[in-house]
Amino acid sequence: MSNAPAPETIRTRLSRVDGQAGELVIGGYRLEDLAPQATFEEVVFLLWNDRLPNSAELVQLRGSLAEERALSPRARQGIEVAVERGVGPMDALRLAVETQVLDGPSEASETRESWWQQALRMVARMPLLVAAYARLRRGQEPADPPADLGHAAAYLYALQGSPADPEAIRALETYFNSVIDHGLNASTLAARVVASTHSDMIAAVAAALAALKGPLHGGAPGPALDMMREVERRQVASGRSLEAETEDYVRQTVAAGGRLMGFGHRIYKVRDPRADVLSRAAEQLAVDPQRADFLRRARAIEQVTLRVLEELKPGRNLRTNVEFYTAMLLECVGLPSDLFTPTFAVARVAGWTAHILEQRFEGRLIRPQEEYVGPSPRAWVPLEGR
Ligand code: SDX
Repeated sequence: MSNAPAPETIRTRLSRVDGQAGELVIGGYRLEDLAPQATFEEVVFLLWNDRLPNSAELVQLRGSLAEERALSPRARQGIEVAVERGVGPMDALRLAVETQVLDGPSEASETRESWWQQALRMVARMPLLVAAYARLRRGQEPADPPADLGHAAAYLYALQGSPADPEAIRALETYFNSVIDHGLNASTLAARVVASTHSDMIAAVAAALAALKGPLHGGAPGPALDMMREVERRQVASGRSLEAETEDYVRQTVAAGGRLMGFGHRIYKVRDPRADVLSRAAEQLAVDPQRADFLRRARAIEQVTLRVLEELKPGRNLRTNVEFYTAMLLECVGLPSDLFTPTFAVARVAGWTAHILEQRFEGRLIRPQEEYVGPSPRAWVPLEGR
């Protein structure tokens, strides 16, 4: 019997999530050190190579990503059809990823090098797929970022059709680094399960995207901002305080069996460490009074939500998770809220591909043991006797 861990445990070198201490380590580095200081490309290299790159390696990776950063005609076609049919951004993204099957046999050669090449292409192309969808649905041609731009800058250029300001690029880079990998979350597990059957890279990333779409996982940041907008709308209509309207909103949501998006986590039973990293990044971006006031209101809503959740759900430790300040930061960067989850995928695809490579070349088939709780054994009764 190989010395593989018990089936329910999957060993990884990529990241460690400590839910009790509220700590996240990515490739051996503390989130607080890595996220605000590294470029996205440095963290991608770290995940793929178990170490940070030197200058020459970083230049080479940036160049390789730029070379692969292209919108294939078939992906564009798929996105155009999705836009025509009114398909949502996460479904359109998964469709566009799957069209890459048409660009060549998905049964690529089984060498690690060929799988790594596919990983590089997947990371390089994800931003252009999201941006093409965003622009085509506005009736605009996709924009092609200059090859000398870094990944985060290229994504913003592809969305806006012009260079983004350095503060927005840095804020987005910090966000990318904060969500690039996070242990065995649902979408990463989905990718690993598909990779563990020796399927292919496209299938594994498509499975991850399917999982990420769900509101309990990746679909939360948009609704977190919607909550804030709704509370502000009520405040203007009623003239009551933001705090009072937030309290009512939370009570009504919980009473109706709903959930407050951006709060609670299966692993973190204390504040998600990414919330503080993203909140600080948003602060740095909020130099103008309007943005500063927006963040002040977001904090006020957060504090009331935490207090009321503690009262209504005592002992569940429902704390702020990554998505609340994801919403506030990406709003400050200027992204539309329905692109928040696809933007998460632009970063997380680097983590997914690293887990796919680790699982494909170092793991074995993932097959947890079910706990059967159904009736048995039952005696067979022919139809006429039933
Ligand atoms: C991400 O796994 C990862 O690492 C994911 C992620 C990553 O980086 O990949 O961190 C990204 O997915 C963050 C989470 C984003 N999702 C949301 O913000 C959606 C809102 N949060 C929840 O739905 C919920 O908190 C989960 C799904 C995230 C976790 O829930 P659990 O651990 O499955 O807990 P549960 O659903 O069993 O709830 C326990 C209790 C229930 O009440 P009771 O039945 O005990 O009375 O807590 C309540 C729930 O109703 N509850 C909430 C709540 N979250 C849990 N009540 C109100 N609002 C919430 N947000």
